[in-house]
Amino acid sequence: MKPVKVGLLGLGTVGTGVVRIVEGHQEDLSSQVGSPIVIEKIAVKNTEKDRSVTVESSKLTDDPWDVIRDPEIDVIVEVMGGIEQTKSYILEALDRGKHIVTANKDLMALHGAEIMAKAQEKQCDVFYEASVAGGIPIIRTLIEGFSSDRIMKIMGIVNGTTNFILTKMSQEGASYEDVLAEAQQLGYAEADPTSDVEGLDAARKMAILGTLGFRTNVELKDVSVKGISQVSKEDILYAKRLGYEMKLLGIADREDEQVSISVQPTMVRTSHPIAAVNGVYNAVYVYGEAVGETMFYGPGAGEMPTATSVVADLVAVIKNLKLGVNGLKAIVPYKAKKLKSDEQ
Ligand code: HSE
Repeated sequence: MKPVKVGLLGLGTVGTGVVRIVEGHQEDLSSQVGSPIVIEKIAVKNTEKDRSVTVESSKLTDDPWDVIRDPEIDVIVEVMGGIEQTKSYILEALDRGKHIVTANKDLMALHGAEIMAKAQEKQCDVFYEASVAGGIPIIRTLIEGFSSDRIMKIMGIVNGTTNFILTKMSQEGASYEDVLAEAQQLGYAEADPTSDVEGLDAARKMAILGTLGFRTNVELKDVSVKGISQVSKEDILYAKRLGYEMKLLGIADREDEQVSISVQPTMVRTSHPIAAVNGVYNAVYVYGEAVGETMFYGPGAGEMPTATSVVADLVAVIKNLKLGVNGLKAIVPYKAKKLKSDEQ
């Protein structure tokens, strides 16, 4: 069987996990899609760097355009991060008829509509499950699982770093700075942790969830944001004494045809299941008119959980490509009519 050739942009934490899963689960993956999956080329910043995963040096390049322009490559997996430059790689790859898997919530929150329009024009897939809540398949769930329902509320702990910090402050009385350093060391935090602690990372994820859940086009500027940098140990202990846990919560509500989305430190009653979500774990609570209350829980960051979602997208893209059976087209929500709140 002719292999499906994949170009990988980035070999950091998530990229390393992608290589491990594609190699380690190769037999199972290829039996699912009907042909071997080969990571053909990998764009990295430094081709000489020592790595925790073995890759043939001939596959490495320091120029992402080498990957994008390689006619042999069918699918691009983007796990390098970045916004404007990365967008130009993705648009060019789509122009060349390549399908895309990305973990890039910054890119999708800011330019999702444009990327999806290009994907539709070129009849290519763009899948981005790993962009929200790492290992929880929440994007598939919103698009497919709830296609029959009208979602009224989405509430999420969607940033692992801040949840890790708040949990350790609450349970161990640890200092904000020490826990942040630990989160960075463990590879949870963004390169610049400001976007984690000031709530921007969560806001971008909530914009994506709102777009998909409410089938509209939520822009980042529509999300009101407050992070945890002003939350003190005393605030957390005081909340605990009153029977609450402090969580950085994204809340997206639909009322009539109005949508409101915010991210802010929130006191959550300890009896609510979301209050028990600790450490780097994420959770997304979804309330649908027909289904009622549901909640999805799992690791929200880190190498293997995030790579699990990336490779699941890769399998879905290849199934579409080869067999035309998957039918998961993430295009729809970005095309839907805007709700009234977007016009304010
Ligand atoms: N910095 C992010 C987090 C990584 O902590 O959730 C996963 O998106």
